[in-house]
Amino acid sequence: MQKKLLIVSVLTLAVLAGCSGKSDSGSASSGGAMVAFVKTQDGSPLEIKAELFDTPAAKEFSTTGKNSYVGKADAIAQGKKLFQMYSCTQCHGGDAQGQTGPSLHGPDFHYAKNATNKGMFETIWNGTNGGMGAKGKGLMDPTDPTNGLKPDEVLQIEAWIRSHNEKLTGNE
Ligand code: HEC
Repeated sequence: MQKKLLIVSVLTLAVLAGCSGKSDSGSASSGGAMVAFVKTQDGSPLEIKAELFDTPAAKEFSTTGKNSYVGKADAIAQGKKLFQMYSCTQCHGGDAQGQTGPSLHGPDFHYAKNATNKGMFETIWNGTNGGMGAKGKGLMDPTDPTNGLKPDEVLQIEAWIRSHNEKLTGNE
């Protein structure tokens, strides 16, 4: 009899744990609600899995839209490398000054929202209709879901881009 009770309560616990796991998936593990990301193409909702925000900076960004890497030397240096590795240089130039693609220095952008770190993140993650491809993990290369930038890497690239214009941190 007691044994049966034990099995029932273990099962109940397992079910409860399963449920809470599910309801967590929409928000970052810091507990705050996820920022409402939208596509640069049409402003419709842009779903990004909470578990991809897997560093303190990325978690903070996912709930506040603020990029804490802006102004930080280490992140800026990493961002520069990633900008080269992901061939952003081919279209935007070695210093993001503009080539076939536009300059990323601002303060004026094709899409005004790229003056904010949230807006620029959405543009880099999911692309535009005018020749900028999606670079987000799982989006960049449809044949390989592991390929592409992680949120933390996009934030480092932004820190490097913002380092060219000290008047524009994107966190204003
Ligand atoms: C194949 C060329 C190409 C590559 C590679 C590329 N871009 Fe772009 N990018 C463009 C073009 C073209 C636009 C203008 C798109 C538009 O107007 O819709 C653009 C627009 C942008 C914008 C918005 C600029 C604005 O004025 O609003 C950002 C930010 C950006 N790219 C960042 C990046 C980053 C970061 C990378 C690398 C991870 C990258 N791009 C790689 C071609 C490229």
